Amino acid sequence: MRSYENVLGLIGNTPLVRINNITKQLKIKAPIYAKMENLNPGYSVKDRIGISMIDWAEKEGVLKKGGTIIEATSGNTGIGLALVAAVRGYRCIFVLTDKVSVEKSRYLKALGADIVVCPAAAKPGTPDHYVVTAKRIAGETPNSFYPDQYSHPANPSAHYRTTGPEIWDDTDGKITHFVSSIGTGGTISGTSRYLKEKNPHIKIIGADPYGSIFKTYKDSGHVPEPTPYLVEGIGQALPTVNADLSVVDEIINITDRESFEMARQLSRREGIFCGGSTGTIFSAALKVAKDLDEDSLIVFIVCDTGEHYLTKFHSDEWMKEKLLLEPQRITASLIAETKNGGAPAELIFVGPNETVGAALELMNEKGITQIPVIEDNISVGSLRESRVLTKLLQNRELMEAPVSDVMDESFPVLEVDTTLADVKKRLQKSPAVLIEDFKRITGIITRSDVLELHK
Ligand SMILES: Cc1ncc(COP(=O)(O)O)c(C=O)c1O
Repeated sequence: MRSYENVLGLIGNTPLVRINNITKQLKIKAPIYAKMENLNPGYSVKDRIGISMIDWAEKEGVLKKGGTIIEATSGNTGIGLALVAAVRGYRCIFVLTDKVSVEKSRYLKALGADIVVCPAAAKPGTPDHYVVTAKRIAGETPNSFYPDQYSHPANPSAHYRTTGPEIWDDTDGKITHFVSSIGTGGTISGTSRYLKEKNPHIKIIGADPYGSIFKTYKDSGHVPEPTPYLVEGIGQALPTVNADLSVVDEIINITDRESFEMARQLSRREGIFCGGSTGTIFSAALKVAKDLDEDSLIVFIVCDTGEHYLTKFHSDEWMKEKLLLEPQRITASLIAETKNGGAPAELIFVGPNETVGAALELMNEKGITQIPVIEDNISVGSLRESRVLTKLLQNRELMEAPVSDVMDESFPVLEVDTTLADVKKRLQKSPAVLIEDFKRITGIITRSDVLELHK
């Protein structure tokens, strides 16, 4: 019989997967391999440190039967700890910031953890900061263990013992470049220390979001004022004990836009469904790779799964709201569905047999200056307030006439997947366009809806 004693046996030994389509298109010669940490049982690289820190605490007698684990986490370390807690019977309390995706927070609750949420905007060291809050709760909770992933040696040592050797063995020692993000710094410090011991020529590249301090700190020794960014789980406002930047050769800054775009491309074009920090790392890997030839071998970390971000950057609606969506993904149906802040919108229209007076009243009530005329789901014409009023000035009796007597030609009818560029082109000649889905008119886009996109 082939089986595992429990789910913890599935942690680590993740495979390397070669990147093909993206590198081919970019004419990159150096082979790039993804270290698939998203295949851990908690779907992230942080499963490795969850078990490593708890094993340490049990061995040292810090964590005893019935104890409580308390940690400040962007979610994944919490998941790694909660898996072990579920198997070994501990209670967990995790302190998150309100930047953490709802998926990770619900996942933690599903694993049986209690959650405390702090504002992401709180400054380090202030009472509302998530790390300060976690420390306070740990101090107030008897029989508790506060691992502190930012400084605990069992964090980088997990990667020194496992991630590093796995990469070395699986590449037959041929790895030339290792690319990772820096959150606590555990992954990059531990893995790189092992790899550099094996071959000091291996280049270590850190990927850091713009707004985080690591690049400036490494390059100048100065800690800059941090600024907000959207990628989760990586970067810091202050240096951490576990981020040993002496093993890092170069740090590359990456924008949110590049990170999300690359994570989305990895999912769509390589089938590697990953989180935003993986996009940050992969962007840096591509920048490094463009100057290398086929004798190099790059390995980068796939930190976690895209499932944690389905309501965030893996959603076109969220990307559009953040003004980050690739223009070719902004389609007519997306514009119509998400206009007015995504509030469910009913298509307002009149029938050709209604009176002009009733149509004007409806337009007035809804605050609109143009309206489609629709019969049996087919657009048969349009009314534009200014033109109708001009006709009424000449003949007031038209108020009682049917709409069909005064209407103009229909607004152009476009398919749901018409691109933003084409929608704009049609709006140059018409004040509005209609959207058709399976032969039904489902929405309308006006010039002001498109202007809203650029606000
Ligand atoms: C999504 C994600 N990516 C990357 C990291 C960074 O890993 P490390 O803390 O080992 O630097 C984390 C850490 O929490 C994470 O949650």
